[in-house]
Amino acid sequence: DKPEDLKPRPPVVTVMGHVDHGKTSLLDAIRHTNVIDGEAGGITQHIGAYFVELDGRHITFLDTPGHEAFTAMRARGAKVTDLVILVVAADDGVMQQTVEAINHSKAAGVPIMVAINKIDKPNANVDRVKRELAEHGLIPEEWGGDTTMVEISAKKRMGIEDLMEMVLLQAELLELKANPEKPARGRVIEAKLDKGRGPVATVLVQEGTLREGDVYVCGTYFGRVRSMFDDKGRRISEAGPSVPVEVLGLSGVPNAGDDFVVLPDEKQAKLVAEHRQL
Ligand code: GTP
Ligand code: NA
Ligand code: MG
Repeated sequence: DKPEDLKPRPPVVTVMGHVDHGKTSLLDAIRHTNVIDGEAGGITQHIGAYFVELDGRHITFLDTPGHEAFTAMRARGAKVTDLVILVVAADDGVMQQTVEAINHSKAAGVPIMVAINKIDKPNANVDRVKRELAEHGLIPEEWGGDTTMVEISAKKRMGIEDLMEMVLLQAELLELKANPEKPARGRVIEAKLDKGRGPVATVLVQEGTLREGDVYVCGTYFGRVRSMFDDKGRRISEAGPSVPVEVLGLSGVPNAGDDFVVLPDEKQAKLVAEHRQL
């Protein structure tokens, strides 16, 4: 890509943390908070990723079904996320999966921001959480470190705007760019066999623009994109960088982390797929 072909793209953010520390509640709070355009911020059951608008800027959130998907993607060398929000419950503190999430993120070279959640609870202990995080190398900014930590209550919808501001600030520093003017390339976030619709994959477009009718190779499968849907379940005809889409028309169910590459014609796609099957 020539530098002038690279255009700013939205950040892709994954929410991680120990079981029950409030990942889903945080995503829910983000979806409902007033600063985010209600129409643009919907989550549906159809797709494990969603796209929100905040003051005219966009953020893609990945609602990965846990660390397994993250690990699987890392094993395939797939970097899908720009930023991790690590959710730590202020009453519970750092737990096993908190540490795993820290290690995964560090290994993948992805910056971490911390959301200290459940600060509404009477037994919340924010200082203890910070000390425990510091023991794992995440030093809060106010202690001279470089980890942004925001105190929130997903349940009471406190601190969510601050957290989103910090996400956008971090994202700006990363200067994320991609070329939308070329054949699409992305990653499978999740895939399943749908009884009525056949194989369905949630694909995060990472560069280029994906269009209906495009010829693709995905893992060991190839074919043509029959139809695409956004995170609200609406049919769309194209999707640019950082946009998650649900793709129909796959010839099989790919794995999370598989690449999704658009090729000029079916003959080439078939050759690549066959070569991969060897
Ligand atoms: P898993 O996906 O199962 O790992 O859990 P999770 O991290 O998505 O947590 P979830 O959002 O399901 O929240 C777990 C529990 O904590 C639920 O009962 C929530 O209502 C509660 N909870 C989440 N956030 C808060 C909060 O800010 N304050 C309080 N008091 N409870 C919260
Ligand atoms: Na839970
Ligand atoms: Mg959850």
